Amino acid sequence: MRRIGPLVCLVTLLLPVAHLGEQSPPSAAEAGPVANKTSASTRAGYAGDEACQACHRVQSEAYIHTAHHLTSQLAGPSSILGTFGPGENGLRTANPALHFEMEAKDGAYFQTAIAGFPYMSVRAERMDVVVGSGHRAQTYLYWRGDQLFELPVSYWLEGSAGWVNSPGYQNGLANFGRTIPPRCLECHASFIQATALGTFDNHYDRASLVPGVACETCHGPGKEHIALHAPGSQAKTGQAILNPATFPRDRQIDLCALCHNGIERQQLGPAFSYVPGQPLANYLQPNPMDNTTRPDVHGNQVGLLKRSRCFLSSATMTCTTCHDVHAPERDAASYSGRCLQCHQVTGCGMYKTMGKQIATNCIDCHMPLLTTSAIVATRGDESIGTKIRTHWIKIYPKTVE
Ligand code: HEC
Ligand code: HEC
Ligand code: HEC
Ligand code: HEC
Ligand code: HEC
Ligand code: HEC
Ligand code: HEC
Repeated sequence: MRRIGPLVCLVTLLLPVAHLGEQSPPSAAEAGPVANKTSASTRAGYAGDEACQACHRVQSEAYIHTAHHLTSQLAGPSSILGTFGPGENGLRTANPALHFEMEAKDGAYFQTAIAGFPYMSVRAERMDVVVGSGHRAQTYLYWRGDQLFELPVSYWLEGSAGWVNSPGYQNGLANFGRTIPPRCLECHASFIQATALGTFDNHYDRASLVPGVACETCHGPGKEHIALHAPGSQAKTGQAILNPATFPRDRQIDLCALCHNGIERQQLGPAFSYVPGQPLANYLQPNPMDNTTRPDVHGNQVGLLKRSRCFLSSATMTCTTCHDVHAPERDAASYSGRCLQCHQVTGCGMYKTMGKQIATNCIDCHMPLLTTSAIVATRGDESIGTKIRTHWIKIYPKTVE
């Protein structure tokens, strides 16, 4: 059974949409060969995840199964979770004259929009990059020259799995023109070299893409560290590498807030230039939603945790109080032990009536799954909403009988 995973971001709703007009679209063949190999990193000083494995086996072996590592990948048989078999490779839309077909052909994967009757118009694009670990959903990107666009059909894994209209897309339209700005990849990948300056510009050096969130996203460049620990080195403590555990609490939270404080924060510097340990406020504007009375639960674990009395009343709580980012997430119940680092079972008002059974259930009542209207995908005439785990730890009225 699949656990409840992360969600498709609302970002797709907010980013500018470049409509391609009526000109004939480029054929998939024009898009050029899929880069089947990426440079470990084109950035000076960065070594890539494989380079850490020899000396940090424990972290490295668990890490490849995490949502961070898997959050973007090059398209291929193992990265695309969507289905291509007959009968399960189509998506009908609210518009009877438009449907999509997904096709696997000669080791490449395509989305084709088939529209109109009796005049058929067909547009096919190749799925080049996969975004989303698939805990909840995947969306697909395609290259057109040096530009990256989102495809209109995503794959949803929650509930009855299947192809859906990409979240935020108008059901019944074939929109191939939604651009992917650098910020999207900053949260879902480790690096790409933008070749234009604007925050919303969409021109890249294709070969520079480093998919997935890498070790060095959180630990900073590792080449020098590796050289200093080369065989024969006497160094016992980590040299020339960042360990977030040594940051003050605010900077620890900032590191996670780079990607977990909602998508509304405006950038002050180019994507991929934030250095862990530095104040994030110099890099991103504050999230305006954090000051509203009801911030949405989607994607903003930082904003919500900061409202919790646990966080406000303890000097030490950070994200790593509960999460080990080097290993895949565990089931919700197992987190109760983390609550009991600071609380007693008997301290809960429900202990009197419910007794010890609450000991493994703190999360259900104090960090409940809440419905969000922010992320809705569609399939045929059906809307597929979702529930997410709030990080505002408190007493929720519905838990009081
Ligand atoms: C040649 C061996 C070697 C390689 C390769 C290596 N490290 Fe290390 N690393 C060490 C040693 C030795 C230490 C110090 C002992 C320890 O903490 O395990 C260390 C410590 C660390 C620490 C803790 C630092 C501290 O101050 O507590 C981090 C974080 C770290 N390494 C990250 C990385 C990352 C990320 C990579 C890959 C880019 C990497 N290491 C590659 C040998 C290596
Ligand atoms: C999402 C951010 C993130 C990523 C990605 C990440 N780490 Fe870490 N790492 C941390 C944090 C935070 C700590 C400090 C944990 C703590 O507070 O105990 C840490 C600590 C460490 C340490 C110190 C020993 C320890 O376990 O506390 C090592 C070594 C390390 N990481 C290696 C790696 C390697 C190797 C990778 C990639 C396979 C990696 N990390 C990926 C955030 C990250
Ligand atoms: C570079 C962006 C980035 C940074 C930095 C980052 N995250 Fe994430 N994190 C993501 C994305 C994107 C996902 C969703 C991945 C998916 O499912 O496709 C995610 C998922 C998660 C998940 C849930 C999934 C799982 O199985 O692990 C946890 C927990 C998490 N992050 C905690 C943290 C913590 C704690 C930090 C800070 C130490 C952190 N993240 C830093 C981007 C980031
Ligand atoms: C500010 C960082 C940020 C930006 C920008 C961002 N995302 Fe996300 N995205 C996340 C986080 C964090 C999650 C995990 C869901 C959550 O925490 O609610 C996520 C989840 C997803 C998922 C679902 C993953 C899964 O397996 O459940 C998809 C797909 C996705 N994002 C696609 C995109 C695309 C495409 C863009 C750009 C057009 C984008 N995101 C921009 C942070 C971001
Ligand atoms: C790092 C320590 C720490 C951890 C871990 C922690 N808490 Fe707390 N929590 C506190 C402190 C301190 C307070 C404030 C107590 C006070 O003011 O009397 C608090 C308050 C609360 C409250 C009262 C909230 C309110 O708004 O009145 C609840 C409920 C609660 N915690 C539940 C939890 C649950 C459930 C978990 C695990 C998911 C958890 N806590 C984890 C330290 C922690
Ligand atoms: C008191 C414990 C606690 C703290 C502190 C905490 N989390 Fe979580 N987190 C949880 C629990 C419990 C879940 C739900 C796990 C599940 O449902 O499988 C979760 C899930 C998540 C997810 C997956 C979200 C989803 O909807 O699928 C992300 C991302 C995440 N946490 C990020 C963070 C970040 C970033 C921080 C720091 C701002 C943080 N967490 C602090 C307990 C905590
Ligand atoms: C069945 C739902 C439920 C479960 C399970 C549960 N709680 Fe509670 N908790 C509540 C409710 C409801 C209250 C408010 C009770 C009251 O006001 O008498 C509460 C109150 C609290 C408080 C605040 C006490 C105060 O006086 O301010 C803390 C702290 C707390 N719970 C921690 C926990 C921890 C830790 C766990 C897991 C070991 C847990 N709760 C499990 C529902 C639950």
